[in-house]
Amino acid sequence: MNTFGEMTACGHERVCFHQDAETGLRAIIAVHSTQLGSALGGTRRWHYATEEEALYDVLRLSEGMSYKAACANLPMGGAKSVILLPQPGLPATEAEARAMGRFIDTFAGDYIAAEDVGIDTQFVDWMAAETRHVMGGETVSTGGDPSPFTAKGTFNGMLACLRHQDRPIEFEGLTIAIQGLGHVGMDLCRILHTAGASLIVADIDAQRVERAVQDFDAVPCDPGNILQAECDILAPCALGAVIGSDDIRRLNTNIICGAANNILVNPEEDAAAAAKAGVLYAPDFVVNAGGLIWLAGLWLGMGRDELEERINAIEETTLEVLEEARLLSSTHLAAVEFAKRRFANKPTSDKEPLHAG
Ligand code: NAI
Repeated sequence: MNTFGEMTACGHERVCFHQDAETGLRAIIAVHSTQLGSALGGTRRWHYATEEEALYDVLRLSEGMSYKAACANLPMGGAKSVILLPQPGLPATEAEARAMGRFIDTFAGDYIAAEDVGIDTQFVDWMAAETRHVMGGETVSTGGDPSPFTAKGTFNGMLACLRHQDRPIEFEGLTIAIQGLGHVGMDLCRILHTAGASLIVADIDAQRVERAVQDFDAVPCDPGNILQAECDILAPCALGAVIGSDDIRRLNTNIICGAANNILVNPEEDAAAAAKAGVLYAPDFVVNAGGLIWLAGLWLGMGRDELEERINAIEETTLEVLEEARLLSSTHLAAVEFAKRRFANKPTSDKEPLHAG
């Protein structure tokens, strides 16, 4: 991969590699944009097959964060970081997290870290022992796990999809297939079950599937078949790049609306192919912004009422993007255009950041 070429193509400002000899930490922070403000984005802790794969992931994820913040009308930029594990499933340590915290601190507030796949609130608090530029912990830093807000936002995105298709806003009688029963997926199950939907679920962790079956009357599905499940809405809530052109041909849904970042393998092409196939794709970075709104909003000094209002507004934003897409090749393109308009008309906040400086 030609890193400068990729950075230029996607418009990244800064990409930093770091290694810590003492702990063995190897990590990358990618800042896509600080045009609208400091850039908040999670730290992913993952074993990548190659270094290139990690770089590709962090570049795509950080670009998506800029669009996500802009669509959510937050005066924040976009960034993300990855910790490259030498082997899968390696337990996290305080020393590793603190080394990551020191790396984050070198960005002097341009980058604010938070949870992503593979790290929890404890890890966030360990990082926060070394830097003020972290959100999402429970003791040293604030905000807690943002996943329930991400799940709520994704549900709001589903409401918009039903409205866009002129269907009744009613989950009784609908079947939703959920891939991934982690922090977000399980909470989405709870919300949908409460709303009366029937659930089909898959996870590579059998215990999580069992929990969803017990708690939400979900029907289990083999992880290899969940994308082809017959359903009203397919909600990918595991990892990214799960739906490519071949998968689109085999879908048995007419709505894709999930929380995973970068659901589509080739966002523009695959979103256009979905549209052609009569499948409504709700752009991931529009519908999964609930967690970002929560943590970035707290960072910016917003109160609970405003945060709730902004998370509810995901429904109207999604609807607006879906309507604009009627004149374009895809809903993804409509969402990118929507975000770019927001870059041009810089969102503002009258609040002073909690952790300025
Ligand atoms: P998590 O790590 O808690 O859960 C992911 C789940 O997916 C795990 O239960 C894992 O076993 C399962 N999984 C992995 N590969 C799978 C496969 N092939 N088939 C079925 N299940 C599989 O992660 P979390 O926090 O729930 O996030 C889920 C997705 O949502 C990620 O893509 C994340 O980047 C995205 N996201 C999360 C936000 C949050 O607030 N946590 C915010 C915005 C996006």
